[in-house]
Amino acid sequence: MNHLYLATLVTFAASCTSGPGNTSGNHEAAPGGDTSNPAKRGSPVEDVRAACGSDGALTAAGTIITRQPYLQQVTPTSAIVGWVTSNPDGQRVVFTHPDGKKVMEAGGTVDEKALRVGNARQMWSQASGLEPNTIYCYGLSGSGDMTSRVGFRTAPADDSNGPVRFLVFGDSGGGSNGFTDQFALLDQMSTVPYELMFHTGDIAYDNGSMAEFEDNVFSVYAELFRHIPFFPAPGNHEYRATADAAPFRSVFSLPGGTGDTWYSYDWGQVHLASLDTEADYDTQIAWLDQDLATSNKPWKIVYLHRPPYSSGAHGSDTNLQTKLAPVLKKHGVQVVFAGHDHNYERMIPQDGVAYIVTGGGGRGTRPVGTSSFTAYSSAVIHFVYGEINGDEMTLHAIDATGKEFDSQVITR
Ligand SMILES: [Fe+2]
Repeated sequence: MNHLYLATLVTFAASCTSGPGNTSGNHEAAPGGDTSNPAKRGSPVEDVRAACGSDGALTAAGTIITRQPYLQQVTPTSAIVGWVTSNPDGQRVVFTHPDGKKVMEAGGTVDEKALRVGNARQMWSQASGLEPNTIYCYGLSGSGDMTSRVGFRTAPADDSNGPVRFLVFGDSGGGSNGFTDQFALLDQMSTVPYELMFHTGDIAYDNGSMAEFEDNVFSVYAELFRHIPFFPAPGNHEYRATADAAPFRSVFSLPGGTGDTWYSYDWGQVHLASLDTEADYDTQIAWLDQDLATSNKPWKIVYLHRPPYSSGAHGSDTNLQTKLAPVLKKHGVQVVFAGHDHNYERMIPQDGVAYIVTGGGGRGTRPVGTSSFTAYSSAVIHFVYGEINGDEMTLHAIDATGKEFDSQVITR
């Protein structure tokens, strides 16, 4: 290690105690986690890539696409594709079966409510009438093909009790401006197979702006986003220098269609609820109480940005803890994922609920201690990979070297 690099690291270490943290280099977790449940590894996109035979690259006609197609709100029978273009005329998404037989053409709609950057327009297109747990291919067309064909898989049938695999991360990074943590972790995100991704907030550093969403989110995760649906919770950085998280609201099509930044959805035997810890807690907890009451899914997951329990730099949000815990218990929620603190922490289950802080998604780390509720903690760049099989959920924490450093088995 040269001296200049070392000096840079020291400077980062000093600044990280108060700032969001930049490049930590903390890619390997501290020992002490439970490593007795190693996940079966594999690519998350290999099957859909093989089926549709392409990588979604822009064609010559596609140079007017300024944000490549990405999946939102995939359900058992429908899917939304978003993209941004400088000229929306006649643009549409062509959905086919892997054998090339056409399923439907879905016209692109300009989102008039979305923020505009220059002449770029937010587009949405929706396919419906699809079959559950089935691979479909899609490509953008205008005057000719604008992208090559890519694939995705619809969600499991509503009554499916088959396996569900997900990836969750938070506090994920600053794009290519020297933030190497994010890219180290991105490399590892292709080593586990999952069907959906969700995020515990602080997606677009530093200020949640449109430019930061392009550079630090869509550019970075384009390959995953075109194949796998992404369900984000907003964090404080999405609000930091924006009008009520307007860019977050513009770039994502959230389930529910209410315009609220909290929502829920189902994936096979799982019900997932995403909260917004920058918005009013009482309103959302009343909503969550109702939402969970109407779900008959055996598995229930809640995720949000500020952590109810944490031994990290920000610590526990005890107000949230007090308000949330009775609702979680009442409706049998098994696990809560949070971010905000730039570390990993697994709590000792509290009142039957597993709590995880996963805030090491690429935007540096901060020191983390332990508390009376801590089972294991480490200041490390990581994501959490979850597998649900029948009555068992296994959570695997994987660091930016690719090593599984902690796990937890939850039975219901
Ligand atoms: Fe945060």
